[in-house]
Amino acid sequence: MSFNATRVEEAEAARAVFAEDLRESLRRTPKQIASKYFYDALGSQLFEAICLLPWYQVTRTELALLHRHGGSMLGALEAPTSLVELGCGSGEKLAALVTAGGESIGEIQLVDISPAALEMTARRLRQQGVEIAHAHQASYEDGLTLAARHRAPEGPLALLFLGSNIGNFDPPVRQDLLVRMRQSLRPGDALFLGTDLVKPERELLLAYDDPLQVTAAFNRNVLRRINDELGGGFDLDAFEHRALWNGHDQRVEMHLVATRAQNVSIPGAGLELSFEAGETIWTESSYKYEPEQVRRFGEDAGFRAAAQWVDIRARFALTGFTV
Ligand code: TRP
Repeated sequence: MSFNATRVEEAEAARAVFAEDLRESLRRTPKQIASKYFYDALGSQLFEAICLLPWYQVTRTELALLHRHGGSMLGALEAPTSLVELGCGSGEKLAALVTAGGESIGEIQLVDISPAALEMTARRLRQQGVEIAHAHQASYEDGLTLAARHRAPEGPLALLFLGSNIGNFDPPVRQDLLVRMRQSLRPGDALFLGTDLVKPERELLLAYDDPLQVTAAFNRNVLRRINDELGGGFDLDAFEHRALWNGHDQRVEMHLVATRAQNVSIPGAGLELSFEAGETIWTESSYKYEPEQVRRFGEDAGFRAAAQWVDIRARFALTGFTV
């Protein structure tokens, strides 16, 4: 079979999974769409734009921590240390760590749901003279399994889960994922977790509902994707972006709000939906923590919290766990 035929079949299989997930999640009350579906080619670029917004400080702060402490992060592990980044995005953070870690870095594997992200990262690292050993277009769960299977025979592995991506999971799912991470690692390996911290509500809402409305475009793009890939009939003008802070659960929630009552059909998923005016689709949660909460939930999953670097001004933590 030719390469292109394989690509077409993969795209069709991915569309079928998307349709199946939507059939389940859009029939729930409240309706939901899993946040991993944000990241098609346009969604990945919109997210890169979010990372450049002055109001969204997660990426900038984490990059500074990696530049400043990358050497000591990796210095504590045996060399060469292989790296696996789950959700590499544009590869900017990995590039920072590679610069800081220098000679101590062994093979690098990438995992991302978005082919565009894998390409961006591979290109960026190649410009730095670094080749990627394996790039897996996969969910976090499948990517973990693949990365463990392809690890270099010698040396420890450092798993990178940055960008506060762990914060996009509800606590029980988060714990399951951390346990799976731990199980895919061996003694001597490490996990570096980047987590955003609780901060004033006004700052949090500006980060997830920015004045330029890039985040709104990013959120609404998932409806555009459903229209394009599954023949959906969403009227994009009839859904508004909403971000709210749920202090009790310590999370920012992102929703798409129907501005009027309407019916929407998604033929590719066999769905006929009806919305009341003001009804919402829940598209993402972003949990915020205190530094000690991060250490604790990592330890609850069987890791040992070994080091933590905190930016106390921007309120962001990078935590190093060992197995
Ligand atoms: N992991 C990122 C976060 O929770 C993802 C993200 C940032 C995001 N801004 C967003 C997701 C806006 C949806 C909408 O911070």
